[in-house]
Amino acid sequence: MTTVIDQYAVMGHPVAHSQSPRIHTLFAAQTGQALEYRAILVEPGEFAAAARAFYAAGGKGLNVTVPFKQDAWVFADILSARAERAGAVNTLRFGPGGVQGDNTDGPGLVRDVLVNHGVSLAGQRILLLGAGGAARGVLQPLLAERPALVVIANRTVEKALGLAVRFSDLGRVTGCSFAELAGRQFDLIINATAAGLEDAVPPLPEGVLAAGGWCYDLMYGREPTAFVRWGWEQGAAQSVDGLGMLVEQAAESFYLWRGVWPETAPVIAALREG
Ligand code: ATR
Repeated sequence: MTTVIDQYAVMGHPVAHSQSPRIHTLFAAQTGQALEYRAILVEPGEFAAAARAFYAAGGKGLNVTVPFKQDAWVFADILSARAERAGAVNTLRFGPGGVQGDNTDGPGLVRDVLVNHGVSLAGQRILLLGAGGAARGVLQPLLAERPALVVIANRTVEKALGLAVRFSDLGRVTGCSFAELAGRQFDLIINATAAGLEDAVPPLPEGVLAAGGWCYDLMYGREPTAFVRWGWEQGAAQSVDGLGMLVEQAAESFYLWRGVWPETAPVIAALREG
């Protein structure tokens, strides 16, 4: 008799660069869980068919990355409250009760900030740059930490205003343009824009980072990102990229699937080494 090993995968387009197979394979080895995890390239418009086929073949769960997080939200039968609010799903669990959808990006960010970097968000003035899918995915867990306020600034100001309204019942959150940030100061600036793809930083006024404040880029790369470098130039106490968040969101997914918490620090260290 052959033993069938539980199958998991990440679906995206592109997906070859994904670190998720490596992260989950390290988690599995560390916790003694028998599972296989691979990356599957899916063509745009094909997500539901690909996810259904994976499920039909006995797949236990999926991670979902760009550009399918909204498709996964539609695909799920049951949504966690945070996924419902984010309008995006990055984790699917195939269970007897149906397809469960969750979004572990925001909790991953908050865990990285609180636990790995030792910074509390309570009472802090937070500036969130960007109003796309990445920003929407982290707002609820950020507001749950009871910051003094969250200001969302975006190139297209209407999107920032709309997002602020959508989350306004969860805390003090407003939207504005980058220019309107002049004269204001924040303790934490989180970059959730895609500007880094062009090695650029949104046009921020001088002095917007408070003394002792710090910067967090949801993106990460081999070299320090443009926003991490910007933070250093502004004298940030810490200016960090999103590698820790990547590993923490994976740990949240792993827990959802396997009921076991992996240790993230050694995995973050392994990825940092290359
Ligand atoms: P994601 O899922 O990564 O959030 P998205 O939903 O397409 O992707 O959102 C991209 C975000 O990056 C948006 O907030 C976008 O601003 P607009 O809403 O004005 O398009 C922002 N963005 C992209 N390129 C940018 C740039 N060069 N400077 C500033 N903001 C940028």
